[in-house]
Amino acid sequence: MGIQTAFPTYLYQAKLRSATRLNLKLLNEIKHLSEEDQAGLHWSATRYSNGYTSYGSLNRLHQFSPTFAQLANDLGPHVQAYAHQLGLKRSTKLTMTDCWANVMTYGVHHGWHIHPQSVISGTYYVQAPPLSAPIQFEDPRIERLMAAPVSERRQRQLWLALPVRQGWLVLFESFLRHEVPINRAKTPRVSVSFNYSYF
Ligand code: NI
Repeated sequence: MGIQTAFPTYLYQAKLRSATRLNLKLLNEIKHLSEEDQAGLHWSATRYSNGYTSYGSLNRLHQFSPTFAQLANDLGPHVQAYAHQLGLKRSTKLTMTDCWANVMTYGVHHGWHIHPQSVISGTYYVQAPPLSAPIQFEDPRIERLMAAPVSERRQRQLWLALPVRQGWLVLFESFLRHEVPINRAKTPRVSVSFNYSYF
């Protein structure tokens, strides 16, 4: 007898301890990238309208920049804690495979997507001014819910919008569909996204 929780979806949020030390360096480097990375600007023009992402050009920043390498290093314990919560075996073999920067100015959005071929994905928020768009997640069972009645409980709703906070990170399983709705912040919302997989 009693209630059991089955098939839960876990999201991880935490403040990065090194945020104060890292953010200014990250901001400077990302600003430089968003001005100089011609391939990235070209890629962004058609796929990240009015914003900048290095996803299509420089997507292994942790291997080229000591600042991003430091960020990867500081994210490590959080990824391990999350992998532990998920009960993943061989969690110490999880490696950061991709790491890219995103600049969302006013009006930019990023449509629904997943991160194929990864295990854990996440984003670290370097700059999150007031009215920054949240990150929104979708219930992975949505196709099967058909006529299921709507629940009033936050954890049982079909979409969950997490407000983003400067200096904080969010981790999620890579199969979980997510989006960033239209950003209304007057100054840029700047983030670093990443994937982890087994190596
Ligand atoms: Ni994503």
